[in-house]
Amino acid sequence: MQPGQPSRTALGAAAHRAVHQVLERGCIFTDPLAVRILGVDAEAAVRDAESNPSRRMLRLFIAVRTRFAEDALAAAVARGVRQLVVLGAGLDTYAYRNDFAESLHVFEVDHPATQAWKRQRLADAAIPLPRTLTFAPVDFERETLAGGLAAAGFDLAKQSFFTWLGVVPYLTAQAVLSTLEFIARLPGGAHVVFDYGNPPTSGADRDRYAAAHEALAARVALIGEAFRSYFETDALHAKLMTLGFREIEDLGPALIRERYFANRGGSLPDRGGHVIRATTV
Ligand SMILES: C[S@@+](CC[C@H](N)C(=O)[O-])C[C@H]1O[C@@H](n2cnc3c(N)ncnc32)[C@H](O)[C@@H]1O
Repeated sequence: MQPGQPSRTALGAAAHRAVHQVLERGCIFTDPLAVRILGVDAEAAVRDAESNPSRRMLRLFIAVRTRFAEDALAAAVARGVRQLVVLGAGLDTYAYRNDFAESLHVFEVDHPATQAWKRQRLADAAIPLPRTLTFAPVDFERETLAGGLAAAGFDLAKQSFFTWLGVVPYLTAQAVLSTLEFIARLPGGAHVVFDYGNPPTSGADRDRYAAAHEALAARVALIGEAFRSYFETDALHAKLMTLGFREIEDLGPALIRERYFANRGGSLPDRGGHVIRATTV
């Protein structure tokens, strides 16, 4: 991120969710606040998406990862989850349309500059702040997640759910694993959903994913938020088990197509963007 500036990729991800409501009528993921929180940028985002059809794949991936996370959250609330931590929240709107407001407290953790910008956007869109929401500003380059959550009143003993969408690729592998270790050790038990990418292939093995990925990596690097980590699926699963996670559900391109785009023909390689759920309870 640029010093003192809100995340530009947070705006990009929110624009994809808003465009999905308009161009695909929210067929994968319905978010009644997605367009509203973008405000005047929403119309420009739709025009931009219409003139760049190649962005559709990323838009649908963002819709899928959010739908997967919110479906998993609903199931986990039924299993006793009482706290949700939205890590690197950006313009995520879950806290403002919380389906379980009576029993689920939401902590939004984000860089202070992004969070201040979001709060202004919420005010501009007249979206009220629910009493079940606590903001926890944390700059991961300077502070720990544990410290930020403690200051916000997070209860380590309650079963918790973490959504961590669109953030892992921007962090070093070491930073990713230390956050996962913190989550795995929570005494109340925890669930986490995040997305990650397999290392793109190069040279003669360069596949369709590698080509699309290269273009995206170049775009995010240009705005100061370069990709810094990739994981091989098997190695990541082994690491999660070592950290103490017990149940893992991982959807790569092939399983995503099977679950969310079943009427599409053709097959896909299973390398590329994944969304994964891991739990310790
Ligand atoms: C691509 S955005 C994803 C936002 C949101 N989760 C979504 O899916 O729309 C990346 C997020 O990571 C946050 N982030 C990046 N670097 C950070 C840092 N050093 N400390 C805290 N948050 C950071 C940004 O502020 C931003 O909200």
